[in-house]
Amino acid sequence: MRKPFVAGNWKMHGSKAFVLNLVTGLNSKSGELKGVDVAICPPSLYIDYTLRSLSTDTISIGAQNMAEEPHQGAFTGEGSASMLKDLGCRYVILGHSERRAIYGETNAEVANKVRVALEAGITPILCVGETLQERESGVMESVISEQLDAVLSLVGIAAFKAVVIAYEPVWAIGTGVTASPAQAQDVHAFIRAKLAQLDAVVAENIIIQYGGSVKPGNAKELFGQPDIDGGLIGGASLDADDFIAICKAAEV
Ligand code: 13P
Repeated sequence: MRKPFVAGNWKMHGSKAFVLNLVTGLNSKSGELKGVDVAICPPSLYIDYTLRSLSTDTISIGAQNMAEEPHQGAFTGEGSASMLKDLGCRYVILGHSERRAIYGETNAEVANKVRVALEAGITPILCVGETLQERESGVMESVISEQLDAVLSLVGIAAFKAVVIAYEPVWAIGTGVTASPAQAQDVHAFIRAKLAQLDAVVAENIIIQYGGSVKPGNAKELFGQPDIDGGLIGGASLDADDFIAICKAAEV
């Protein structure tokens, strides 16, 4: 039985005042969370402040990206896995479509970052997903396969025991258009079946989150699908009431 996992990706939003207000709201409602793992991923600059503001251990912290270089060095502007570990991060989002599209991250770079995160003892939340054009031109499955294969060929299927996958159709991110529960379930089942060809036990146990315009009003139906194990939440994770409502919708 997989325990659902909901993570909030705050993206590049916030200020100290905003973080304090949001985390205060999460602290006061965290007692309501049962049967679901929850994490929040603030901008790196606010990770430490967020952790200091959190007064509950039912909510973990993750980062939104990290360098390929695992430790320290002359990499101006970067932050490493060992630094995230030192700060207290349990998760790191890798290969988000915004990183791929805006910053040109390749499948090979994402794979390398997954390897580095695993070596540092941080759980990668590996994002995969197709654009609308890729979906409409019938290459959705091959795009997602290539995104997964790059990582699989570098770290091997056994390492996926410690990986979370987030399926995020690019066309559903921040658009208010969500994949229908059936559309999302189809892709989640495809991903799980692909992994099952390599290792049935890993495939059965891996958490596959859905991300893309998840809101309190649509979360329950999405999370009720057999292969959807929670969500990666953008906009709605910036509101404590909405985020907690979404986390509760994932509870088993
Ligand atoms: P939205 O929930 O704002 O659509 O963002 C989804 C996302 O990109 C989470 O990583």
